[in-house]
Amino acid sequence: MKLGFIGAGEMGGAIIRGLLKTGWKPEEIMASVRTPDSANRLANTLGIAAYTDNRRVIIEADRLFLAVKPAQMPQVLSEIAQTQVPAKPLITMALGWSVEKIEKVLPNWPIIRIMPNTPLALGEGVTLFHFAKATPDRDRREVMGMFESMGKTFEISLSVFDAATALSGSGPAFVYHFIDALARAAEIQGLDEKMARDLAVQTVIGAAKMVQQENVSPAQLARQVATPGGCTAAGMEVLITSDLQEVLREAVAATTHRAQEVSQN
Ligand SMILES: NC(=O)c1ccc[n+]([C@@H]2O[C@H](COP(=O)([O-])OP(=O)(O)OC[C@H]3O[C@@H](n4cnc5c(N)ncnc54)[C@H](OP(=O)(O)O)[C@@H]3O)[C@@H](O)[C@H]2O)c1
Repeated sequence: MKLGFIGAGEMGGAIIRGLLKTGWKPEEIMASVRTPDSANRLANTLGIAAYTDNRRVIIEADRLFLAVKPAQMPQVLSEIAQTQVPAKPLITMALGWSVEKIEKVLPNWPIIRIMPNTPLALGEGVTLFHFAKATPDRDRREVMGMFESMGKTFEISLSVFDAATALSGSGPAFVYHFIDALARAAEIQGLDEKMARDLAVQTVIGAAKMVQQENVSPAQLARQVATPGGCTAAGMEVLITSDLQEVLREAVAATTHRAQEVSQN
């Protein structure tokens, strides 16, 4: 089986790296991108066949992954329609491009809309799924299985797809920002840069695993660390009075609204 990527930048590249880690062979993956430089880089770093010829991938691949920016979608979809290949599973990850919008150009194709995130390159991703009615069960299972090997998968209804995108698609950027801010705050208190980052990263990993594995709410876990009158309580007091929750509410709302705007264009 040949997997074909149209577009292989940050997200497409992360999926390809994740697939290679889970046992797919470079010979089973091909990609087409816009510039020869990117094609050469993909061929040299990942060992896959990479071209600047979408038609070749559209014809030769058994499964097509669309990993271009949303603005490139009309052009790529019309190239697929014009190439007149038989319908094949089409996995699309462009923000704002619903299954229904794509079906207008490629009616009756087995379309699978996903919203992945970049940590799947390390097997720790989240991938959201929404399927076209025409997508057979075996294609759904096969593609979900592919992504399950790179993290967790969730089938999401269209009405909350943008909100879920704000959380898991964009969320890694929020968490990177948090880790950076936490580490810099400790640097001000005298830690060197490397030590501050190492401590911040491992603290976030450990705390996330506690939430995942202990049968206790995050709020209760926070109370277990912050004994009244102790040093953690002094820090928590600052987070609560400066309303971190409200800041995150606004960040997730702004991300969701932007995703909805792109969807409506
Ligand atoms: N980045 C994320 O964390 C993330 C998360 C979830 C979903 N997504 C979705 O993933 C998609 C890709 O985002 P990205 O961040 O990976 O973008 P990106 O890094 O800019 O990559 C875009 C890729 O598309 C290629 N390309 C541009 N025009 C093309 C065309 N006409 N035909 C074929 N290839 C073309 C580019 O090639 P060149 O390098 O040669 O220009 C590049 O490989 C977007 O739709 C986005 O909504 C991204």
